Amino acid sequence: MFLKLKNNFTYKNPGQKLVTKKIKFIRVYRWNPYLQIKPYFSVYPVNLSQCGSMVLDLLVFIKNYHDPTLAFRRSCREGICGSCAMNIDGKNTLACLRTYSRDSSFLTVYPLPHMKIIKDLIPDLSNFYHQYSLIKPWLVNLSTDKTLENLQSKSDRFALNGLYECVLCACCSASCPSYWWNSNKYLGPSILLQAFRWVIDSRDSATEVRLNFLNNKTRVFSCHSILNCTVTCPKFLNPAKSISKLKLQLVSLSGGKD
Ligand code: SF4
Ligand code: SF4
Ligand code: FES
Repeated sequence: MFLKLKNNFTYKNPGQKLVTKKIKFIRVYRWNPYLQIKPYFSVYPVNLSQCGSMVLDLLVFIKNYHDPTLAFRRSCREGICGSCAMNIDGKNTLACLRTYSRDSSFLTVYPLPHMKIIKDLIPDLSNFYHQYSLIKPWLVNLSTDKTLENLQSKSDRFALNGLYECVLCACCSASCPSYWWNSNKYLGPSILLQAFRWVIDSRDSATEVRLNFLNNKTRVFSCHSILNCTVTCPKFLNPAKSISKLKLQLVSLSGGKD
């Protein structure tokens, strides 16, 4: 339980004007494999008048002015690259899309849960990307005449809406209890949403191969429709809906198999 700390400080500047300084205390999970000590929290006071409105701004401020050893991923700061995924006040999200409250005194930042950690807020996504490679995330065109355009109707293109926007941040997979316990076998919501995106692409020639690969109890059917994935997605996508549509296709194929 936190102490109730005052986060408004009023003082007179040299020109004798009253200035109110709002301080927020950022509690950040820290772990450095080289220190050989248990994970711990660092708490950093941040003067909000010097900082932008996103949680990523807080972390960049901390790195610039408090502690250059703090490690976290970021690149685009626009919700496009998916690299700043972390757990902020209990919810997996992208730090560059998440605003913070100016009224509360504390904010807590963890790395994505149930992932191996490389350092501080940086999860090891090797397994995640390996699973992504398994679904062959590219267009397979087996037509013999490669000079022809591979056209798609407007409605076929429309079917990809809500899927192609996924930025592979892994927030959904790291919120899924089935993925927490079976990430070696279950592909998880993010990879399955991507798999579904290629299964329903009208230009793709490998639909059957894709479905045969997915037609496996653990790869897809470990999803128990808990919906954490959809609740947490910072891009407002619905991986649980994609998985249920995928399940329907697989059941109509053969009823699912081991
Ligand atoms: S709906 Fe499926 S994928 Fe999404 S959190 Fe639940 S079990 Fe995981
Ligand atoms: S579905 Fe959403 S939460 Fe999951 S990887 Fe894609 S963008 Fe991230
Ligand atoms: S920095 Fe790219 S999504 Fe946040």
